[in-house]
Amino acid sequence: PVTTVILVAAGSGQRLGYGMPKAAVPLGGETILMHALRGIVASGVSSQVCVVLPEGDDGLRSLCDAFREELADGGPLLTVVDGGPTRADSVRQGIGALMDGIEAVLVHDAARALTPEGVFHRVVDALAAGAEAVIPAVPVVDTVKTVTPTPAGDHAVAPEMVAGTAARENLRAVQTPQGFRAETLRRAHEAAQELEPAEAAAVTDDAMLVEMTGTNVYVVRGSTQSLKITTPLDLIFAEGLLEGPLG
Ligand code: CTP
Ligand code: MG
Repeated sequence: PVTTVILVAAGSGQRLGYGMPKAAVPLGGETILMHALRGIVASGVSSQVCVVLPEGDDGLRSLCDAFREELADGGPLLTVVDGGPTRADSVRQGIGALMDGIEAVLVHDAARALTPEGVFHRVVDALAAGAEAVIPAVPVVDTVKTVTPTPAGDHAVAPEMVAGTAARENLRAVQTPQGFRAETLRRAHEAAQELEPAEAAAVTDDAMLVEMTGTNVYVVRGSTQSLKITTPLDLIFAEGLLEGPLG
């Protein structure tokens, strides 16, 4: 399918704590944004890459302009748009900038800058095979429990207690790029405009919005190398990955 990758890079990077947007933070001598962009282009899946940047960030915009020059003829069209206050707002900005004739959209986090090409291919292959929505995911290594606040009398013991344990074999940690038929993603984000603020705040990925519309979301194998650079520890992992891939 003719595909656009929406690369969301408009976050502020609070948890990384560099005092600059995460996309601008250096990783192996380049910015996180440039690693993410090069990975997308190397995968060869996209006719258009739509980069969503923090509003007014001239530095990141210049990086994109320079990369556009670098792209050979026949490479993807590189579009830049301003992001919004939430990730979902930023994705919506990207959807508004899709070029004509786009059949499929991959939404990808710049924070997953080291995503291997194979993950892009598995997502696109599932779309080509007929999926309306597909996400890459990996098995969860930790045991995951739900918790609830302890009753008032027990506060001295601990602030919360276990409410239940999810069956780990059915759990997956979800990554990006998440792939959608263009119309499916558009409709899901339109429907999301009707959510109550509390519901909207609980939406952490695009697939969730598609799930709410009742459409099947298929799962393909992700990669442990697609870690989302969120905290300083993740940046150490990412630097280590650049030294040499995992076995
Ligand atoms: N993102 C975005 N627009 C926003 C918020 C997030 O485009 N308003 C993007 C980020 O740039 C990132 C991805 O969504 O590539 C995942 O978000 P996250 O890892 O939370 O990044 P930040 O929001 O930048 O980090 P933090 O939450 O620590 O501030
Ligand atoms: Mg965030």
